[in-house]
Amino acid sequence: SKLGDSWQRSFPTKNNRRMHQINKEIESILRGIIAKRMQAIQEGESTKDDLLGLLLESNMSDTDENGQSTLGMSADEVMEECKLFYFAGMETTSILLTWTMIVLSMHPEWQDRAREEVLGLSGKHKLEYEGVNRLKIVTMILYEVLRLYPPATVFTRKTYKKIEIGGITYPAGVMFEMPVLYIHHDTDIWGEDVHQFKPDRFAEGISKASKDPGAFFPFGWGPRICIGQNFALLEAKMALCMILQRFEFELAPSYTHTPHSVMMLRPMHGAPIRLHTI
Ligand code: HEM
Repeated sequence: SKLGDSWQRSFPTKNNRRMHQINKEIESILRGIIAKRMQAIQEGESTKDDLLGLLLESNMSDTDENGQSTLGMSADEVMEECKLFYFAGMETTSILLTWTMIVLSMHPEWQDRAREEVLGLSGKHKLEYEGVNRLKIVTMILYEVLRLYPPATVFTRKTYKKIEIGGITYPAGVMFEMPVLYIHHDTDIWGEDVHQFKPDRFAEGISKASKDPGAFFPFGWGPRICIGQNFALLEAKMALCMILQRFEFELAPSYTHTPHSVMMLRPMHGAPIRLHTI
């Protein structure tokens, strides 16, 4: 965000100025929320059982008597964490659900199978945690959507020292891109039907879905793997089940299939979908 901010300032186009203004607005709202919460904590109120409360609490125990952070995060860093959680958690999951609705509209037979599964597990009642864990078809569908349309198409790493990777030595400061989208669409790994929507390939789990058990990584990999992946899948499953229990859906004629990646992979012209109550 710091980088984005200076970049927006150095090219003062209309768009960049607007982005800068929006960023300032968001930051001032967040600063307000943080300041209010800090004051409440200082006045002895409980920190509440949420993320901001936890962040601030851990932070305050690392703050000296003048309010200067010793080990903890600065107020700006707490704010950046809030932005990251909102962005990383909201956009990604809503895009996953959007693609799922699109793909299930294109493949009504899978929409029916998913609905049958949900209705079989809990009828039209709210699905409880246990029921969610027993969803097999729905899970396969979500994996296959994440394979074909990973919301984060690429993530980057930077060498911090001279390092050898795959027989080549790179100096410090080299940026690497992990092309999730390409690997998810590699014929050598997934087979000739790589571009087709075939949830069955996940019938025996992720490790058996392709020739390379590590080739499916919509949530990243390694120490910085998505911290919200279980939450995201749980949320997506619950939302999808609630929709399937209530509606049949199809794409509106105005839909055009244009996957487009700016920050995240989304349908460029939106997803007009017709819902029919059942
Ligand atoms: C379908 C939904 C999601 C997808 C596809 C997704 C994808 C990813 C990916 C690929 C990364 C790793 C980026 C990298 O290595 O550079 C990541 C990191 C992260 N995600 Fe998610 N994410 C999703 C949902 C969520 C949710 C719901 C939350 C929070 C509640 C969340 C919070 C985070 C955070 C905080 C990180 C950074 C972790 C770190 O750097 O240690 N994500 N996500």
